[in-house]
Amino acid sequence: MIHRASQLFLPTLRDAPADAEAISHKLLVRGGFIRQVAAGVWTFLPLGWRVHRKVEQIVREEMDAIGCQEMLMPVLTPVELWQQTGRDFIEELFRLKDRKGADYILPLTHEETVTFHARELQSYRQLPQMLYHFSIKERDEPRPGKGLIRLREFIMKDAYSFDRDEDGLDVSFRKQREAYHRIFDRIGLVYHEVEAEPGMMGGKESYDFLAPSGAGENTLVTCENGDFAADLEIARTIPRAPAFPAPLAAPEEVETPGVTTCEALAEFLGIDVAATSKAMPHAKLDGTVVLALIRGDDRLETAKLAAAFGEPLWPATDEQIRAAFGASGGSLGPVGFEGDVIADLTLQEGQYVAGANRDGFHLRGVEAGRDYEARCADLRASAETDTCPDCGGALRFQIAIEVGHIFKFGSRYSEPLGATFVDEDGKEKPLVGGSYGIGPARVMAAIVEQFNDENGIVWPAAIAPYDVHVVVLAGAEEIGERAAQALSDAGHDVLLDDRDQRPGEKFADADLIGIPVRVTAGKKSLEDGAVDVRLRGTGEERRVAVPDLGKEI
Ligand SMILES: Nc1ncnc2c1ncn2[C@@H]1O[C@H](COP(=O)(O)OP(=O)(O)OP(=O)(O)O)[C@@H](O)[C@H]1O
Ligand SMILES: [Mg+2]
Ligand SMILES: [Zn+2]
Repeated sequence: MIHRASQLFLPTLRDAPADAEAISHKLLVRGGFIRQVAAGVWTFLPLGWRVHRKVEQIVREEMDAIGCQEMLMPVLTPVELWQQTGRDFIEELFRLKDRKGADYILPLTHEETVTFHARELQSYRQLPQMLYHFSIKERDEPRPGKGLIRLREFIMKDAYSFDRDEDGLDVSFRKQREAYHRIFDRIGLVYHEVEAEPGMMGGKESYDFLAPSGAGENTLVTCENGDFAADLEIARTIPRAPAFPAPLAAPEEVETPGVTTCEALAEFLGIDVAATSKAMPHAKLDGTVVLALIRGDDRLETAKLAAAFGEPLWPATDEQIRAAFGASGGSLGPVGFEGDVIADLTLQEGQYVAGANRDGFHLRGVEAGRDYEARCADLRASAETDTCPDCGGALRFQIAIEVGHIFKFGSRYSEPLGATFVDEDGKEKPLVGGSYGIGPARVMAAIVEQFNDENGIVWPAAIAPYDVHVVVLAGAEEIGERAAQALSDAGHDVLLDDRDQRPGEKFADADLIGIPVRVTAGKKSLEDGAVDVRLRGTGEERRVAVPDLGKEI
């Protein structure tokens, strides 16, 4: 089909919005793909919607191919569904009332709604089932921004599987996982599949698909030898071994005036900072104070801490700390603390210097198990100086965008919502589920982040808004039309730039919009009956006679 630029709503801009930092934000706005309506709320203009639909279509084909069935669930959702699963407290939820005062939420995702429907599955004979939809998600994100990367309203393809047991779930999960690889391969994205943190969605096995890009908010940790890839939030890598001082038979108090950081403590005592421990008091929602303990040279990974407790925690306030420890921030430790202590795995072996719970004092030679009781868990953030847990190789940290997320939720939703079936043995059991999400808008942004140059976007052919951009210069209108027609006849979607503009402006717009092939009909075409065919990606150019266009492109 031929689409005439002179008749399209295609408002390109010379300048990017002043607040835009991400390249995709700038280029998608300048190229006339999207426009902002409110923070994190965007309109897809016709050009942007074409790309979105192409991404959707690839996702749809791959979902259909594994027997996942498309449906559509509503956005408006009665709050009771989310109360039953205990997720109505989530801060990102938009809430509203109808005219009768009944409470609704706008869903972040549709596990509740789909499980509500799955209650109609009665027998193991009806399993497995896989369902999906493209539907609007509303999330009152704390920091919306970066164009399409962090939206407050967006379309997600979310798929759900229901099986009779974990073995069945394994099979559905593998099908989805393979489909995700095909989707991102077809789109042309550079990505890594990594183990991820299941988050608030209540997951077990969880994988993220991360697209390396400086505009992302995740950190991808990979091994130089290619055998390890994980999201920083859950990466468990090998820290260097500390240089311990001679062990002590019992903790010894030492006066440390004015010393409140582990670095200062190590320097003051003349020891390795890795042989000190850092006390990080946290409070639960109900105000209970717990002590997280990590090595002095480590950073606490809050996602791991939350995962270890199965609930979010907040750094304790000064008042909470005083009340729980009888000391202030710089001198806290596990010895004598009455509450729960959770220590990082690194602290299981060896003796560390810890706060004495007395301002200006620390304890040397503190040993887990002997001097304090603690639950051990992985709490430390992986560091770039760590090594690979699989082969000991060096690690690489890269910023990346999460473009897809798949995870097993088991009976997390079917139990509270009563979605059970009768198994072959006659017993009633909860359905066992998985959840599989992709945001096409964020995928678009990730593609633009990865495929651009100083002149604009370089769309991979699979999701380009049009296949060929025919630029017609003054005088060559007739041959330009013929070129467009030949390409259209060959099955291409053609954008025909028939606008009354200077050649420089037309070429600049063509580069900005980023259609993979540009065909130019100019003065020379009148002489030789050929057009310039230029590839957006490589800049490679050749002349092709109009009748040959169909078979050449
Ligand atoms: N705010 C958002 N804007 C655009 N797309 C999003 C947003 N949040 C999630 N998505 C898309 O939906 C997919 C599945 O959503 P999921 O709930 O797993 O994301 P998430 O873990 O909340 O993402 P993030 O950690 O970036 O907030 C994501 O992989 C992403 O493609
Ligand atoms: Mg999120
Ligand atoms: Zn390795």
